[in-house]
Amino acid sequence: MCGIVGYTGPRQASRILVEGLKRLEYRGYDSAGIAVQRPADAGSPLAVIKRKGKIAELRSAVPKDLPGTCGIGHTRWATHGGVTDANAHPHCDASGKVAVVHNGIIENHVALRETLEKEGAVFKSETDSEVIAHLVAFYYKGDLEEALRAALRHLTGTYGIACIHSDEPGRIVGARNGSPLVVGVGSGEMFLASDVTAMLAHTRQVVYLNDREVVSMSADDFRIADLEENAVDPKIDRIEWDLEEIEKEGFACYMEKEIFEQAESVPRALSGRVDRENGTAKLGGLNLTRKELHAIERVRVIAAGTSWHAGLVGAYILESLARVPVVAELASELRYRNPVVEPNTLYLAVSQSGETADTLFAMREVQRRGATVLGICNVVGSTIARESDGGIYVHSGPEIAVASTKAFTSQLAAFYLLGLLLARTHDLSHAEGVRFIKQLDAIPEAIKGALATRDKVQAIAKKYARSGDWLFLGRGILYPIALEGALKLKEISYAHAEGCGAGEMKHGTIALVDAETPSVFLVPSGHLREKTISNIKEIKARGGPVIAVADSDDREVESLADDFIGVPPVDALFQPFTQIVPLQMLAYFVALELGRDVDQPRNLAKSVTVE
Ligand code: F6R
Repeated sequence: MCGIVGYTGPRQASRILVEGLKRLEYRGYDSAGIAVQRPADAGSPLAVIKRKGKIAELRSAVPKDLPGTCGIGHTRWATHGGVTDANAHPHCDASGKVAVVHNGIIENHVALRETLEKEGAVFKSETDSEVIAHLVAFYYKGDLEEALRAALRHLTGTYGIACIHSDEPGRIVGARNGSPLVVGVGSGEMFLASDVTAMLAHTRQVVYLNDREVVSMSADDFRIADLEENAVDPKIDRIEWDLEEIEKEGFACYMEKEIFEQAESVPRALSGRVDRENGTAKLGGLNLTRKELHAIERVRVIAAGTSWHAGLVGAYILESLARVPVVAELASELRYRNPVVEPNTLYLAVSQSGETADTLFAMREVQRRGATVLGICNVVGSTIARESDGGIYVHSGPEIAVASTKAFTSQLAAFYLLGLLLARTHDLSHAEGVRFIKQLDAIPEAIKGALATRDKVQAIAKKYARSGDWLFLGRGILYPIALEGALKLKEISYAHAEGCGAGEMKHGTIALVDAETPSVFLVPSGHLREKTISNIKEIKARGGPVIAVADSDDREVESLADDFIGVPPVDALFQPFTQIVPLQMLAYFVALELGRDVDQPRNLAKSVTVE
């Protein structure tokens, strides 16, 4: 959730570091800093500049002509210690010769700090990370890699670390355990970052470090070895994402851009994965034989936040299509529950980033008990993608806004494909499979139609923007969409919103209904439509304003609701695609109306790599 960047080469390091941090800002954004080796003066303390606030604060504090061609940088999302200049990374030892940036949590930092203080170390911050700098200095005998290895032996917890020493010009040493770290291989220059976006402007050749690996790099060389010092043969991957994919492309913010990209990102998730002739799906990455697929008796989804909501929709799809029982589990609950792993159960770890600590640790826990886990991830090469037994990349492209939108609909696409494949290995007929694919083919156009409600949604957002409480109500496959609509609004507008099963409402939540509290109803087109209409009437009878999202030709709902958002009619099973889009836009426009920081809402970070 924090971001790391490192550079060594012939160019001015500070510029590359600050630019890299700007690209990483979405990962964490309460303070930032850089440390650069002073060129002419090996052995003198490092130049360290740190600032509370966004990267812009750091940028204006860094002298334009700061010399030095090797350095490290960090953007922080506070876990231990408040948001202050002192707590910002990099952290240094007493001599100022060692600088360290760290993502993750050092669980035994209190004990280490006490020991180091007894040895004379003076701490300048309240962070857990600072112990690493003092430990490295303690062990330093002229070889930074050796010193870092010695320090790592004392650390309990998770880390992605980059470290420099002023006595070793041009060298960066890094290590990973539970927090991502990627080496960027340039021509006569090297990069180290927690995320490829930080270096994409300079190189596309990358090497993903695995847990318990250490890298040592200079401008034209790098080597990787594990903690036991066994050399690791590096596998160089090529990044295909374009930098412009990460730019805003004329939209006011990333979230708006990402919402409007969904008519392209969903077909990307489906592309090449539909077998029209056989009425089924082709998912090569699953690493499961037909026999193994056929033997699956139940499915469990592990995920957090929006990805969990995708899992709830997925549970509905898989159950109704393939007739296998499915439970979507909150990763943060599962990992501490001493879970029972039943035979013939397929686990699905769903995660946009592929780095969410709760999901990753829950996945490892069930793997330890013999479970087969497939990943449904967006970020290629992410930890969950690499550690799972197979999986589906959703290919939504980089998602920069903290609030997840396009990754969600791409995760849904992955579930529809998996549902089709599983169903065809069970009971679904060829004709039904072909019909299902036809319906899936129509989804990108339907998403375009849903996006075309933009102006209507914006007007509704303006009308209700000052409401402090909102209800989102849905049934069946639209119940998770109600949860997701409420989460989106909360995250970026800070209004209180509650997602509720429309049938469950009468058991308590209806007490919240009054003239100031809008209820957003997601109206299904199938057998639950009438029931939902009754729920709308119950709210209307109590004076609550109703915003309804329904098929555009549903005149009855249009006349009942105070405000109506008509989306293209699709089969009830596919309505999550068309109904979530206006809810994403509603959250976006309400937040805009309230002047919120849409892409970087308070207290949140894009990828939650701590508990
Ligand atoms: C909500 C949101 C979060 C994430 C959650 C899991 O908009 O973005 O709730 O969905 O933190 O993240 P991933 O999918 O990266 O595991």
